[in-house]
Amino acid sequence: MTTPTLTKPKAKFNALTVSEVRRLTDDSVEVSFEVPEELQADYDYVPGQYVALRAEIEGTEIRRSYSICDIPRPGTIRVAVKKNLGGLFSTWANETLQVGDTLEVMNPQGAFTSRTHVTSLNDADAIAEKAGNANLVAIAAGSGITPIMAIAQTVLAENPQATFEIVYANKGGADVMFAEEIGDLKDKYPSRFAVHHVLSREQRVNPLFSGRIDDEKLALLLDKVLQTSTIKEWFLCGPFELVQLCRDELDGRGVDAQDVRFELFTTGKPGDGPGQGNTGRPVITDPEGDNITISFTLDGLSGSIDSPVSAKESVLNAALRVRPDVPFACAGGVCGTCRAKVVEGEYEMDENYALEADEVAAGYVLTCQTRPTGDSLVVDYDA
Ligand SMILES: Cc1cc2nc3c(=O)[nH]c(=O)nc-3n(C[C@H](O)[C@H](O)[C@H](O)COP(=O)(O)OP(=O)(O)OC[C@H]3O[C@@H](n4cnc5c(N)ncnc54)[C@H](O)[C@@H]3O)c2cc1C
Ligand code: FES
Repeated sequence: MTTPTLTKPKAKFNALTVSEVRRLTDDSVEVSFEVPEELQADYDYVPGQYVALRAEIEGTEIRRSYSICDIPRPGTIRVAVKKNLGGLFSTWANETLQVGDTLEVMNPQGAFTSRTHVTSLNDADAIAEKAGNANLVAIAAGSGITPIMAIAQTVLAENPQATFEIVYANKGGADVMFAEEIGDLKDKYPSRFAVHHVLSREQRVNPLFSGRIDDEKLALLLDKVLQTSTIKEWFLCGPFELVQLCRDELDGRGVDAQDVRFELFTTGKPGDGPGQGNTGRPVITDPEGDNITISFTLDGLSGSIDSPVSAKESVLNAALRVRPDVPFACAGGVCGTCRAKVVEGEYEMDENYALEADEVAAGYVLTCQTRPTGDSLVVDYDA
């Protein structure tokens, strides 16, 4: 199977107005933004992509990424935000954000998209042609359902032969996001769509659908519920441990890694969180000291920074010191917004949960996770 190339749109924020805030569950909301006509081409997206949102909360600029949850429709971008206990942005979005508020919204990014039907907005013919009679499966937990809703709704609407099944894990029935939309999909496509709710804290008639998804339960779900051998594409989105568990199990069953798409919202590591030391870190440079030269090109303009060897600074942190418009969102190696290509120089990259193996082999890096290991490093954000 050939890998479709998603052209990387220039990462750019625009102020968009909130047109609707709809409560999905006690701790999640769907937020819709109105996209004015002159910006609609910029917000064209492939189902499964996300937008970074930027807001000033309690005097601090906060950026977070949220997956688009809707079938593409011109003029609207919809995301869903689940409140994380103690989480800054998600609590603010759930408790304070209102219709009429304006937020900075980056144009859609990300590659958690179907390889079977990668097309741009509203290209129904191309989707139908490529999807054929594909059987697609998603395994999601909590807010991980968000990009899946966009992918499932689009594939089912645009391809009369495709089937889509979702295994959706939550604590209880009241935590199920998009319950109404999932019900609508079941009514609309009774023979092509199915959802299997697995509730960790509720007893269900079939014990297979109660409790946490561990390796044993996953194996049973794959054996007894899903027709694993007939699945053309897998989508995994949820906590790190669940996604890893599914990837390992599918790998063990001989499923081609190319057919398994996954998206992480966090790395799940202790201390993980946006901006952890990778952005906005002040660095004091001594012109006479031991420095590394980091050069970069962004939007056709080149810049160069001296970075002290002792600072072990990320390329992103260095670039942001001279160009505040350098793109980033999570700063934790999961979203891919800060991707650039190394043109020259030695480097090491810490975490990478966003780039495919072929991108890494071609020299692409996540600049929030990359540090030079030689005297100089040249990267190109436009590549
Ligand atoms: C590509 C991508 C797509 C995403 N899509 C979605 C989506 O569609 N929907 C969605 O809801 N999320 C999504 N996320 C996650 C989202 O970007 C945020 O990371 C999430 O909403 C948490 O942000 P926050 O500001 O609320 O939490 P932060 O303030 O950043 O906190 C991070 C973590 O620390 C914990 N924490 C922080 N302070 C405290 C405290 N005082 N006490 C206890 N715990 C604390 C929080 O519970 C949280 O788990 C996505 C992430 C990525 C990278
Ligand atoms: S900013 Fe998200 S991976 Fe670097």
